[in-house]
Amino acid sequence: MFISFEGIDGCGKSTQISLLASALREKEIPLVVTREPGGTETGQTIRNILLNPDNTSIMPLTELFLYEADRIQHVVEVVKPALDSGKWIICDRYVDATTVYQGIFLEQHIQLIEQLNNIASLGFLPDITFLLDCPAETGQERVHKRTKNNNGKDRFERKALDFHYKVRTGYITLANKYKKRFQIIDSTLNRDIVAQNIWKKIVPYLSVR
Ligand code: TYD
Repeated sequence: MFISFEGIDGCGKSTQISLLASALREKEIPLVVTREPGGTETGQTIRNILLNPDNTSIMPLTELFLYEADRIQHVVEVVKPALDSGKWIICDRYVDATTVYQGIFLEQHIQLIEQLNNIASLGFLPDITFLLDCPAETGQERVHKRTKNNNGKDRFERKALDFHYKVRTGYITLANKYKKRFQIIDSTLNRDIVAQNIWKKIVPYLSVR
């Protein structure tokens, strides 16, 4: 079982991923929790390049190739082995993040993005993708609380609100396109309610494992 989490920065992914992971572990489900970018040693190096605020001259295509390079490494080293051995996997961001984030600056290359996603993921798609949805302002408020000032923010988190609006819209568009795979979860609600809403969607999969 392959679960991914997506959403704008500050949408509450990390909290919900750890709550879901605890709930699954309580049920003694063999689980791997991982993320993109940075789910492998090589990926960690790539992540440092991507999120370093000093790297102001990275071209959008460079960025795309780096995310895809991180992905192929991650799928081969982590995702495929976990799924092959019957484990569950929770991934913090996956192919949809590339379609949405890189798609903003590479609109004309959307087919290329999809092709690269397909190659780098070896065709492995999540069974369920939780889109934690909240307004860009809410996400930014949470990021501010988390980082207190600009010094703690990565390259993406420093982007203007307008960028985060686009990310949110991009995700909703994608969720509507892939309705079967996506679950849109209102992440403005209380954290325990959000966790319950996620859990409700997981329950049907527990019995078939
Ligand atoms: P991270 O610190 O993991 O942020 P978050 O906890 O909000 O997920 O940083 C990941 C950043 O990388 C995030 O802003 C989204 C961006 N990203 C892309 O632009 N494309 C991608 O393919 C992926 C996986 C992430």
